[in-house]
Amino acid sequence: MDVFGIEGPVRLSGSVTINGSKNATLPIMAAAILAAGKSVLSAVPHLSDISVCGQLLGRLGCKLSRGSNGNLCIDSTVIDNPVGEYEIVRRMRAGICILGPLLARCERAEVSMPGGCAIGDRPINIHIRGLRELGAKIHLKNGYIIAEASKGLKGKDIFMGGPFGSTVLGTANVLMAATLAKGKTIIESAACEPEIADLANCLNKMGAKITGIGSPRLTVEGVRELRPAEHRVIPDRIEAGTFMVAAAITAGKLHLHNCRLDDMMAVVDKLRNVGVTIDAAGDGCVVTRTGPIKPGDITTQPYPGFPTDLQAQFMALLSLAEGNSIIIEKVFPDRFMHVAELNRMAANLRKEGPTVIVAGVKKLIAAPVMASDLRASAALVLAGLAAEGTTAVSRVYHIDRGYEKIEERLNPVGAKITRESD
Ligand code: EPU
Repeated sequence: MDVFGIEGPVRLSGSVTINGSKNATLPIMAAAILAAGKSVLSAVPHLSDISVCGQLLGRLGCKLSRGSNGNLCIDSTVIDNPVGEYEIVRRMRAGICILGPLLARCERAEVSMPGGCAIGDRPINIHIRGLRELGAKIHLKNGYIIAEASKGLKGKDIFMGGPFGSTVLGTANVLMAATLAKGKTIIESAACEPEIADLANCLNKMGAKITGIGSPRLTVEGVRELRPAEHRVIPDRIEAGTFMVAAAITAGKLHLHNCRLDDMMAVVDKLRNVGVTIDAAGDGCVVTRTGPIKPGDITTQPYPGFPTDLQAQFMALLSLAEGNSIIIEKVFPDRFMHVAELNRMAANLRKEGPTVIVAGVKKLIAAPVMASDLRASAALVLAGLAAEGTTAVSRVYHIDRGYEKIEERLNPVGAKITRESD
């Protein structure tokens, strides 16, 4: 297992290009199941989660290859084993989003029930409810979800809201299944995340008839079949937000290319409120901090609210604010594995249920810390850039799930990060 050594404090300065979105790519890869033939995706990041998703599709019968230009080709001509195996789904929960497309294409699917997760309980009851509404018969056997639709799926009005709002991958699953269902489906309380809009746009290129894209009400006119398409994945707004915080926490200046500010208004607004300057520039923006970090309150919410996937990174930033901040996690109320680790670096954080009170400190101090999940690990890297001394972050594989060679992208702009095998 790799360990990062992060020497700080540093001031970042220069340009970074944001990669394609992991969370847009994963359901779009699953969408390739819906149309027999070769789909081609560009701007697909080189991440371990993407490789795991590739393995999952490979076991179904798909053939995957990366072209010399980096494009990912998925040939789904043959799908003869509609099974999402435990060995793969347990490594990547997003594997659940093959359930809807498999059911639509093969009229049958067996997908391992995802297990526990470091960011909290992650039920899939709404996915199941939505697919049942479309006519699927679903039961659980030996840890697998067994879904059947021998008479095909049938469009329906479906409400997809849950106790924490909409569900991103639940919406993806039901949306993909509905494209090939007979008749019209309305998905009410659909997730509005840009990654779902990207999926819907890709599905429309494949011949689906989806309207209301980007809104909480998606209307799908079922079609008889879809055809493979070529699609460029949207930039990763969470990676962009992480690099914005990197500029902010180091009092630096970063020009981010391939970054859509329109997808990040809640994040941009929060950064501006705490004293960070963000100016649109070309295909991205310039992020600068010259003055102190002001305290700020954050409540995570489904899109267009502040994303849970940036909560940990903002906690690292606000740890150094001149005053007290409050962070409330409303999407995954237990997503606070980073709190104890940041406190090891001399942050002053107090957790009260789904809330963390952040008392700003003058400086962070390097310490050995452990990555526990993807975004918590990103927060530790950010804290390490600003902390005095050399921070050792172990279990770097968590970071590699969602950030492509983060050290090779931060070092050219002033970071001092080394990667070593444990
Ligand atoms: N929920 C239910 N029932 C369900 C599904 C979800 O109660 O059937 C609850 C969850 O427990 C949670 C809330 O609804 O409280 C939202 O969960 P959601 O289903 O939207 O999460 P997800 O689709 O499993 C995706 C991202 C996550 C991101 C969340 C929220 C992918 C591959 N994953 O997960 O990304 O945090 O949406 O925005 O798109 C990450 O990239 O680090 C990551 C964890």
